[in-house]
Amino acid sequence: MTSTSEQPTQQPTGVAPWWRDAVVYQVYVRSFADADGDGIGDLAGIVDRLDHLETLGVDAVWLTPCYPSPQLDHGYDVADYFGIEPMYGDLSTFDRLVEAARARSIRVLMDVVPNHCSSQHSWFQAALAAGPGSPERARFYFRDGRGPNGDEPPNNWRSVFGGPTWTRITEADGSPGQWYLHTFSPWQPDFDWSCPDVVAMFDAMLTFWFDRGVEGFRVDAVAVVGKAPGLPDAPPAPEGTAENDVWSHNPYSVFWPTAHEHWRGWRTLLEQYERTHPGRELVTVSEAYTPDRPDLLLQYVNPQEFHQSFCFDLMLAPWRVDTLRATIEPVYEALTASGAPLTWTINNHDTQRSVTRYGRADAAELSSWTKNNLVYTGAPVDLALGTVRARAAITLTASLPGSLYLFQGEELGLPEVLDLPDAVRQDPIFERTDGREPGRDGCRVPLPWTADQATSFGFSFGSASHLGRAVGSPWLPQPDDWGTYSVAAQQHDPASMLSLYHHLLSARRSRLDPDAGLGFVDVEHPDLLMLRRGDVTVVLNVGDAEIDLASLVPTLADAEVVISSAPGHDDAGRLPANTCCWLAPR
Ligand code: BGC
Repeated sequence: MTSTSEQPTQQPTGVAPWWRDAVVYQVYVRSFADADGDGIGDLAGIVDRLDHLETLGVDAVWLTPCYPSPQLDHGYDVADYFGIEPMYGDLSTFDRLVEAARARSIRVLMDVVPNHCSSQHSWFQAALAAGPGSPERARFYFRDGRGPNGDEPPNNWRSVFGGPTWTRITEADGSPGQWYLHTFSPWQPDFDWSCPDVVAMFDAMLTFWFDRGVEGFRVDAVAVVGKAPGLPDAPPAPEGTAENDVWSHNPYSVFWPTAHEHWRGWRTLLEQYERTHPGRELVTVSEAYTPDRPDLLLQYVNPQEFHQSFCFDLMLAPWRVDTLRATIEPVYEALTASGAPLTWTINNHDTQRSVTRYGRADAAELSSWTKNNLVYTGAPVDLALGTVRARAAITLTASLPGSLYLFQGEELGLPEVLDLPDAVRQDPIFERTDGREPGRDGCRVPLPWTADQATSFGFSFGSASHLGRAVGSPWLPQPDDWGTYSVAAQQHDPASMLSLYHHLLSARRSRLDPDAGLGFVDVEHPDLLMLRRGDVTVVLNVGDAEIDLASLVPTLADAEVVISSAPGHDDAGRLPANTCCWLAPR
């Protein structure tokens, strides 16, 4: 057994900012809790359920977009960046939420969508009315079509949600008109960030929400903000690229560098805000998928741009020792070497839930992990196995240095709902691919809080139920067994997923030194991953057979089991199948 990497100490930070090793809980607002009984989650529902988050021990919540929106991409189609969607509440409910969260020492982060808005946004409507060449159209990408009648799209780009990235409009006089660019759906026109109006609007927006007590933003889809001048045709994607992954191979719209000057502008704005508002410590976390490219990640997370940038690589890594290590180690080394903070996550609202991913028959196969979280494989799923592995995966992830982002419901071990009827699916991916891709609805099914099916398992608990009326059906149907996953069913069960999350978050705080580096240890076993954080040794068995740890690493035989993903496991000498535990000297 040899130690491969010394454990570097993370860059000395003086007093580290709160977010450096924070646990941030993603609230998908539509699906968290519904206080008015209409079947759709809302801000008042979050206020009512804050106890859950406080008990869990999170430092912050990140709210998915709750601005006025036609909800065609569930809020990622913003019609007004300065308000609250009426179905979710209003500004005074929002203020109440920030206040109530603060009283529990939970910070509130919002989600900002800079690449595009809703086609219902007043600017886009004005652009449609104003005509070609107008300043209103200059805020977006309007172009004439190709071909003799302009009826072919201006270039060959493909959109993320399927189909071309261009839609043709009808001009105000009824004639066939220009085309506009949308990286996602036609209801999400891209802003042209070379237009100063766009820059100024977002500066005003950030400040508006900071003034209301928001402590930071998750920044949506940063990799596609900014496009190559002239919008040239993209070269063909590599042979065999999945339909909804073609977009990611377009070098003229993905990672095009011009956006970085705007992120630098945001960082300056935030730092000025902090200077003029002592006590405030703001954070931005950018969303860019950079699989196997820590160098790209570093283009976003650096002292001039974003404070953090999601590392999604763990969500995309097969359940194997070699791939897990090859995922964590290079990111850790590259970011730590440049003093950049780390973030880890294994679930979000765009990705098949971990319990299901790890339960797939192909969970350990390299070929099944496409490096694109939107492409699902149809392999059969063993949920019991997936749950055991998901427990181990979060036990590993929570041990890593940096911050941890959780997605609502993972603490309940919710599986992906794979059998939603086509008629209820709402994700634009489903519609835009004519049903070839199921989309992301399966991870967005409303949360179960209680065993009571009459209130959608406690999801809807508003006035309607108090009045004895049936509450509205949840916006996506919940499976009949949802109550077995509910908070009520799990909170007093020491072996539950919820108890594991609760203990993990508490052990992170009490047993891990946030400044302790990460060092992997080579061990002679194909299923054993081993790493050190300070005096804590983390061992993960990805195999289906128990490992005799006492023989393999005799020095660990007498260690204390600080926490284990396997309920009741307290013998450091043996490591059950698909289990991760933290060990410390007695
Ligand atoms: C968000 C998605 C959203 C898309 C378009 C993504 O990166 O996470 O949920 O559909 O951006 O805004």
